[in-house]
Amino acid sequence: MKRQLIVALVVAMLFLQRGDAADCNTRQNITGPPNNFPINTSDPTFIARVPNGELFSVGTNGTDFTFLLHVYGNSGYDFGYAAGQLLKKEMTHVLTNAWAYFLSQIEEQINGIAHHYNISQQIVDLISEIGLEAALDLQNDVAAQFVNPEIYAEMQGIADATSLSYDMIRRIHMIGEITRGACSLYGAWGNATKDSKVLQLRALDWDCGAGLQDYPLVTIYHPSNISLGYPFANIGWTGWIGTLSGMSSNKIGISEIGISYPNYPPYFGDETYVGIPFVFLERQIVQYGKSVADAISIISDANRTCRLMLGVADANAHTARLVQYSHSEVNFYDDTNLEPLAWWHPRIDNVVYAGMDWFCPFYQHSMYNQLSMYHGSLTPELSIYNVTSAVMTGDLHLAVYDLSEGLLYVGNHAPSWDSESPFQKGYERQFVRLNVSYLFTKPYGIN
Ligand SMILES: *[C@@H]1O[C@H](CO)[C@@H](O)[C@H](O)[C@H]1NC(C)=O
Ligand SMILES: *[C@@H]1O[C@H](CO)[C@@H](O)[C@H](O)[C@H]1NC(C)=O
Ligand SMILES: *[C@@H]1O[C@H](CO)[C@@H](O)[C@H](O)[C@H]1NC(C)=O
Ligand SMILES: *[C@@H]1O[C@H](CO)[C@@H](O)[C@H](O)[C@H]1NC(C)=O
Ligand SMILES: *[C@@H]1O[C@H](CO)[C@@H](O)[C@H](O)[C@H]1NC(C)=O
Ligand SMILES: *[C@@H]1O[C@H](CO)[C@@H](O)[C@H](O)[C@H]1NC(C)=O
Ligand SMILES: *[C@@H]1O[C@H](CO)[C@@H](O)[C@H](O)[C@H]1NC(C)=O
Ligand SMILES: *[C@@H]1O[C@H](CO)[C@@H](O)[C@H](O)[C@H]1NC(C)=O
Ligand SMILES: *[C@@H]1O[C@H](CO)[C@@H](O)[C@H](O)[C@H]1NC(C)=O
Repeated sequence: MKRQLIVALVVAMLFLQRGDAADCNTRQNITGPPNNFPINTSDPTFIARVPNGELFSVGTNGTDFTFLLHVYGNSGYDFGYAAGQLLKKEMTHVLTNAWAYFLSQIEEQINGIAHHYNISQQIVDLISEIGLEAALDLQNDVAAQFVNPEIYAEMQGIADATSLSYDMIRRIHMIGEITRGACSLYGAWGNATKDSKVLQLRALDWDCGAGLQDYPLVTIYHPSNISLGYPFANIGWTGWIGTLSGMSSNKIGISEIGISYPNYPPYFGDETYVGIPFVFLERQIVQYGKSVADAISIISDANRTCRLMLGVADANAHTARLVQYSHSEVNFYDDTNLEPLAWWHPRIDNVVYAGMDWFCPFYQHSMYNQLSMYHGSLTPELSIYNVTSAVMTGDLHLAVYDLSEGLLYVGNHAPSWDSESPFQKGYERQFVRLNVSYLFTKPYGIN
């Protein structure tokens, strides 16, 4: 009981620090200016090679720079060790800064939260005493039985190659479970898109203070044994192996939205901390799933934890689903039964979508306006130039998947050393394009 309470309190603290979360009570029409930067479609530039790993870069430092990492191997440990060797400096920077940042946020807010949640001084003292580390270890204790052991092996590989603390790496991955960003997504197919492509958006609005954006990274995993799944792309930051955005060689894509405003029917069920952290559930889907049907059964059967929306699109099945997700409930929607159904979130043929949150009328409606206006002409380019910029969603990170063509478009917030740039937010900055249909099949040893 005490354990659950402590984890719950740490969760509550991390909730409060999300100053960047969307204001779903706004009554302003949301319309930002278009993004006019040309998408960078240059080929990746080779940087370095180690056993089981190759590092490339795409784009230009200061505008759209992203690392591209290939990892090959027979185990999670192989992946992690190769990644750690190639990105030691960057992982050390990102992980130690992010850890220090989260720790300081917690300490700052411990008293505010006690007041906000009417928590007794005795419990505040207990949290101060056991600290964030112990609370995250308790979270890991209740989650570990649901997590693929290869994930922990990958963290160990990173730790061994970088000399970073394994415990710190594991704890940072548990923060992922207990913080939930506002975000936006869509899946579009058939006559909603130009040339009937299957397209998917993930726009991540989260805390930009942790410096995660300093070294953006796309990792292409090449398992050499089917027991480790299929080739897939994990799109995020150096040092982070959970999946918030992912695209697989089986032509399925995954995206996610954390829920802060659930109070509109159909209602979400309850939450728990005992289950699979959603970032590893998403990874399971892109790593092992072969189809949207697989994704539906993985999600249905999982010991789910918190309230989320997930987007899953599948170019082979030529469709997408929005998933309303919680510990006790799960609902799968397509374009014919999409929820929530309200004036601010109408259904659109061959589209599932959500703007920022569930009960978030003006953002939801802004997303509706853009997607209905471009129905029939939607492309990844238009999505980047005129959809996410207009909805002003994706301040930290964005990815657009052209699942039909195997193309991935990525944008990120300005790095923390570039706080003077007039374009800070991901949706207003330059994007890069990667040909993942080629990258998934790229053998080791070829630049
Ligand atoms: C929002 O847009 C609607 C329809 O375009 C308009 O009727 C309404 O006045 C606008 N509201 C605000 C606050 O600008
Ligand atoms: C894309 O990035 C490459 C590598 O830094 C650079 O040479 C090229 O000018 C960039 N292209 C655009 C359109 O920004
Ligand atoms: C980009 O430039 C900044 C500032 O000079 C530097 O700190 C950073 O390490 C560079 N990033 C890469 C990937 O080279
Ligand atoms: C706060 O907690 C105390 C003791 O548990 C309780 O008596 C009081 O009613 C609570 N106040 C609020 C506003 O919930
Ligand atoms: C788009 O396709 C749907 C069926 O998937 C159909 O009901 C609708 O009329 C079509 N819309 C247009 C504009 O062709
Ligand atoms: C694939 O992995 C399984 C289970 O870990 C193992 O038994 C098998 O020997 C591996 N096959 C190859 C070719 O490495
Ligand atoms: C996981 O979920 C299954 C049912 O989906 C349930 O039988 C099992 O008890 C759950 N495990 C835990 C530890 O809650
Ligand atoms: C996208 O926005 C730009 C700038 O507002 C505009 O010129 C362009 O026509 C828009 N694209 C479409 C297809 O409407
Ligand atoms: C992506 O790579 C595939 C396979 O190498 C190739 O057929 C396709 O033309 C490439 N697409 C683009 C847009 O370059």
